[in-house]
Amino acid sequence: MIKLDLRKADYSAVGPENGLNISEEFGAYSERIAQIIDDFNKRKNKAGQGLQWMNLGYSEETAWYVKEYAALVENRFENVLVLGIGGSALGGIAVTHALLRPYWNLLSEEQRNGYPKIFFLDNVDPDEMNALLDILDLKKTLVNVITKSGDTAETMAQFMILKNRLEEELGDDYRKNIVATTDKRTGILRQIAEQEGYKTFVVPDDVGGRYSVFSAVGLLPFALVGIDIDEITAGVKDMDVALKNPDISQNIAAQNALVHYLMDTKLGKSITVMMPYSSRLKYVGDWFVQLWAESLGKKKYADNIQMNIGATPLKALGATDQHSLAQLFNEGPNNKLINFIRVEKYDCELNIPKIFEYTGIGYLGGKTMNDLMNAEADSTKAALCDFSRPSVTITLPKIDGYHVAQLLYMLEVQTAIAGALYEIDPFDQPSVELARNYTYALMGRVGYEESAKSLQEKMMIS
Ligand code: PA5
Repeated sequence: MIKLDLRKADYSAVGPENGLNISEEFGAYSERIAQIIDDFNKRKNKAGQGLQWMNLGYSEETAWYVKEYAALVENRFENVLVLGIGGSALGGIAVTHALLRPYWNLLSEEQRNGYPKIFFLDNVDPDEMNALLDILDLKKTLVNVITKSGDTAETMAQFMILKNRLEEELGDDYRKNIVATTDKRTGILRQIAEQEGYKTFVVPDDVGGRYSVFSAVGLLPFALVGIDIDEITAGVKDMDVALKNPDISQNIAAQNALVHYLMDTKLGKSITVMMPYSSRLKYVGDWFVQLWAESLGKKKYADNIQMNIGATPLKALGATDQHSLAQLFNEGPNNKLINFIRVEKYDCELNIPKIFEYTGIGYLGGKTMNDLMNAEADSTKAALCDFSRPSVTITLPKIDGYHVAQLLYMLEVQTAIAGALYEIDPFDQPSVELARNYTYALMGRVGYEESAKSLQEKMMIS
């Protein structure tokens, strides 16, 4: 199992102004945490609670359908192109980057064991998209369009371009190159998929985009490129069993949620940094940033006074960002809680040759890159502590489907528990919806004429 170490967030390590009396806080909050977890355990099987993501690890049916389709299309495509944005893309990017051999798309077909290359388009940058379309042989490309709502402008615009290009190249057969992942019943993509006869997968009810990585949203692209999805669901299930425990001393998601919540509300640590010491886990930072920001950045009212809630997430990469952000972390405002992610065993060991022994870099010879990475993480953590900067450390025994799934699921549960502590809804995103509606208005969608008029007036003024 993955482990959590909170010692460097304790007042004994970083002083009472910057650290918590963790055992005392666990005692003080044990009942509240137990209530929150019991409440999740009771509500997660009920509809309309936004908690169906807690059951995804157990959905044998989804895994079965995904594997069946992946087997059906095996060896048929050279590329998988995923279209999606936000929660419909970030989990897929994070997990494939972590689990596929680095530089996957540059490997030969043999090195990829016959599995396709994978590309994600999660922006509407015309130059980027055009360049990718120039590279891909669309006849050999499977397009997986993912949108829960079925009408996100960014994703649907990409899809419209792809649909036309595929049809131009493949004629009527183009449908075989499209698979849609969307809501079971509603939304424009569902309607189009049914009319056009695309293969479809479902984003289940009560699963918000940023909590959807273990549904077909993630599992389908994973299976298409040969990632063992049984290993992933095993990691989710084992972590879920561990996190059902209402005893805070046994529940790492509850512990980290409470530490983050108290660091923000009591000690002013209003920035949460996610810093994996592994390039393969780099995009876990991006995924976490969206999860934490969109779930916890909310306004709420207490005694009719508006409060703006949430700690700002920031991503960093060890050791790279030691030469970028670490100066700020050490000497800038003491308003951050750093989350180190450590890996106990990398897949390989890379020796540094014993050369240039007569120079100042001679000490590196005979060591490994693994030794260096670990020393970098240890030294950064120690330096932060010297500057009274709190940190927590999550350790993965290794980077594989089982442990990466545990990490992501643990962070999802941590976010949900933090939402309950802040007393906000961690499953909605009202202001994202507002901006989404403004985009519809500006792009001339029927029904948004009034918004378009008032927006144009506002834009004239500014
Ligand atoms: O987490 C969320 O709910 C959002 O980030 C959505 O995933 C994002 O807005 C894309 O929405 P959709 O999947 O409906 O296209």
